[in-house]
Amino acid sequence: MNTSIHGMKRTDWCGELRAADEGREVVLNGWCDRARDNGGVLFLLLRDRTGIVQCTFDKSVNKDLFDIAFGVRMEYVLAIRGVVTKREARAVNPKMPTGEIEITVTDIRILSKSETTPFEISDDKEVNDQLRLKYRYLDLRRPSMQRNLKLRHRITKIARDYFDEQGFLEIETPILQKSTPEGARDYLVPSRVHPGTFYALPQSPQQYKQLLMLSGVDRYMQIARCFRDEDLRADRQPEFTQIDLEMSFVEEDDVIAVNEGFLQRVFKEVLDVDIPLPLPRMPWTEAMNRFGSDKPDVRFGMEIKDISDICADCSFAVFQNVVANGGTVRLINAEGCADKFTRKEIDKLGEWIKTYRAKGLAWMKLAADGKMTSSFAKKMTEEEVAAIKERAGAKDGDLVFVVADADWQTAVVALGALRCELAKRLDLVRADDFKLLWITEFPQFEYSEEEDRYVAMHHPFTAPMDEDLDILESDPSKVRAKAYDIVLNGCELGGGSIRIHSTDVQARMFRALGFTDEDAQERFGHLLDAFKYGAPPHGGLAYGLDRLCMLLEGLDSIRDVIAFPKVQNASELMTACPSAVEQKQLDELHLAIVPEKE
Ligand code: AMO
Repeated sequence: MNTSIHGMKRTDWCGELRAADEGREVVLNGWCDRARDNGGVLFLLLRDRTGIVQCTFDKSVNKDLFDIAFGVRMEYVLAIRGVVTKREARAVNPKMPTGEIEITVTDIRILSKSETTPFEISDDKEVNDQLRLKYRYLDLRRPSMQRNLKLRHRITKIARDYFDEQGFLEIETPILQKSTPEGARDYLVPSRVHPGTFYALPQSPQQYKQLLMLSGVDRYMQIARCFRDEDLRADRQPEFTQIDLEMSFVEEDDVIAVNEGFLQRVFKEVLDVDIPLPLPRMPWTEAMNRFGSDKPDVRFGMEIKDISDICADCSFAVFQNVVANGGTVRLINAEGCADKFTRKEIDKLGEWIKTYRAKGLAWMKLAADGKMTSSFAKKMTEEEVAAIKERAGAKDGDLVFVVADADWQTAVVALGALRCELAKRLDLVRADDFKLLWITEFPQFEYSEEEDRYVAMHHPFTAPMDEDLDILESDPSKVRAKAYDIVLNGCELGGGSIRIHSTDVQARMFRALGFTDEDAQERFGHLLDAFKYGAPPHGGLAYGLDRLCMLLEGLDSIRDVIAFPKVQNASELMTACPSAVEQKQLDELHLAIVPEKE
């Protein structure tokens, strides 16, 4: 059997043929998507990455061809020659882009056969995730996955074109680099040549891109692969891709402006959506207070309100005590939800919110008929309840949720999470409604209880705001950074900052982070040394490319926009990695495996 492609090479793509092609002889290459036998006429649907077209074999016209086609099974790889023919009016399929035509086949060649696939290649069938990932090459044949791969290519290309037009140079930085723990856990690579030493895979090209600014490159970009050994989530993979950039002689506004241009271009070219510029900006403190998140989803309201002043002298001891001890009482109003949540469901939410470290969830239900039930209102005066209702903007039919906590951040974060959970349950958001905003003025430091020290909220190279430089040592919790995140629909799409470019400030920063001068020199000496030789003011940003693709496609997992992703436990099911290696390899690397303790 001839299985060569010789003489049967593609002239056209399956999904692109239209009525205007009528009468043309074409050769198509692809997979058999489905076969349908209609008595003496056989239909094979042929699929390539552009779509599907119907190919027709008529037994009465050519029995030999018909017999070959009859033996074709799903996922056989075929070459088909034929003439584009208009379908009869009653056979037109408006659901298929190629539905007005079919191919009247004059030749067919089976290029390879297929066993029965573990699942059907179709977007209409629900397939278990494990199976999809084990046979990812089959999963990727599905039209929706092909669309995702194309979209990702397109976004990457727009990034390259746009930043090229803006004078950025694409430069590759090393994948094997020095481990400088600060941030997530590193993936380590043992050195064969230098026994007992390790490279780390980059968590991001941060230090190299800064060094490129010191090299006079001025504007750098890279589609950069990053590796972080952290727990997986729907928008987190251990191996992911950034659109990474850095610019010299700039301030925050310059970086933001260039990136707004990029975002506007992407949305226009990919979705034909106009993004009005400039994008809104919101300081971190405001975002936390209003939305309980540094990546607020602003597609819906239900904003958090502070009622600590009302509760300071109120007659409900729990709230009053919290405020008296320096804590806070906050609420959200779920409009029109009084009859949407039963007592039992509210109790369940009360349990659920404890995962966000809230101690509990107080509530007030204002039934449509004016009747009120509440977990706390009975213990308050009428005036106090009225004041809370007014602050909440609550009316009959609404349901108010209250969290009181000694810690301000715990209270707002818990309510922020509840706000998003309610929006999900009430179906308040549409994936095709795009709300972008910048979060600015991040705190420079956050306190790590685990490490019992301040750690950098962004990274240790982020410049503090000029007006806060004086309190770097004396009041670190109040120092704000020249850092900015770009947020899309409740997801952190990207983040960046203006960097420290003075040796002196960088040394002070390392000290504030608890490094001794020796430690800092050992880990970051290359950067500190480089700053001694003329460092331009610089700053940059990195987008999560996977997240950008996911959101533009309206998906809820970045797995679907990564050709070969990892699963929850960081393994890759198709090749079954990570896997054991031969003793010889370990010996060469001077490594010994210590068995895991029971
Ligand atoms: P940051 O750590 O905020 O900044 O990362 C930038 C963006 O990368 C994406 N991202 C991820 N995407 C998928 N899986 C992950 N595990 C993951 N981690 C991060 C997010 C995030 O906003 N060097 C700095 C940038 C800079 O300062 O210029 C950095 O890496 O979308």
